[in-house]
Amino acid sequence: MIGAVAREAEQHIIEGVLHCSHAECQREFPILDGIPVIVADLRRYVSDNVLAMVGRRDMTELTESLLGDCCGPGSTFDQMRQQLSFYSWDHYGDLDPLESVADPRPGSMLRCLDVGRRLAQPIPSGPVLDVGCSVGRGTFALAEQSSELVLGIDLNFAMLRLAAEVLRTGTVRYPRRRVGVVYDGRQFPARFANADNVDFWACDATALPFPDKRFSLAVSMNVLDCVASPIGLLNSIARVLNPDGKGLLTCPYDWSPAATPLESWLGGHSQRSPSVGASEAVLHALLAPNAASAPVAGLELIAEQSHVPWHVRLHDRSTMNYLVHLIVTQPAGPDDRPGA
Ligand SMILES: C[S@@+](CC[C@H](N)C(=O)[O-])C[C@H]1O[C@@H](n2cnc3c(N)ncnc32)[C@H](O)[C@@H]1O
Repeated sequence: MIGAVAREAEQHIIEGVLHCSHAECQREFPILDGIPVIVADLRRYVSDNVLAMVGRRDMTELTESLLGDCCGPGSTFDQMRQQLSFYSWDHYGDLDPLESVADPRPGSMLRCLDVGRRLAQPIPSGPVLDVGCSVGRGTFALAEQSSELVLGIDLNFAMLRLAAEVLRTGTVRYPRRRVGVVYDGRQFPARFANADNVDFWACDATALPFPDKRFSLAVSMNVLDCVASPIGLLNSIARVLNPDGKGLLTCPYDWSPAATPLESWLGGHSQRSPSVGASEAVLHALLAPNAASAPVAGLELIAEQSHVPWHVRLHDRSTMNYLVHLIVTQPAGPDDRPGA
């Protein structure tokens, strides 16, 4: 429940406090820049993200570039700007009148989402969750095809703030990386149908703070190899899907120990094993209907596409090209569950 409202604008609570009324919890969670922060270890989250949380959004491009030069490459400030540039370009670049380069073309995540949505038909109606929504275009795109709540969750506060700003103001404002620590400020309108049904929350995808069986569709684009526990992510999605719900995931299997400890990678190691190190084979085993290991995630794979193009633009002369594995899942039937 809402514990306090400190600031409101355009019918959004910009700052406030949520209070968990559960007798055993009774904890407080902040709302900042319109984003409820609902994470288990709030103190740690705030200290890890304090730069983004207290960061200003009113700086001119001139000052931002000066500060960027001072902080230098590899700094937290630069990493934040790079991530905003990577994902904002792909999510919203198609709406930017200054975006003239045809190759690479923005919108690769949206194209993956379209492929997934076609493969996942029929999609049951009901609330939708975009897990690892980043700067939010996928969440808006999902809302355009739904009349229900569409919630985007992520842990990156700077990206969520951009998404929440688009929701509130209908404007995208982001630093587009040119080269090195040289960025161009971009600003352009972005308005989406059914945006009233959209919200963005800071939550951990592997510990989703929602009751069981709450969502009809859970989408998670390119997140499985970004979390500390990929099995935890699958379990979390399985738990919040209603029995008729569907899960749509894509992943480039770009495993890195910085994000996921090697022991938790799904494939990408142990090429002498039955899966010969292939992530696809590990997923097939985990999500196979009636297979011994199927209950691990409580999800069954019902459709897939093996190579869907997705790219991340790094700077003017560099783009990372991926071919992601796209899978459609549904909660495992009662016969597939452990002990059934
Ligand atoms: C590779 S990006 C993909 C973003 C977006 N879904 C897309 O495809 O364009 C991975 C996203 O997952 C988010 N992420 C990583 N770990 C997370 C976690 N434990 N909970 C929520 N989001 C997480 C990152 O902040 C980032 O926005």
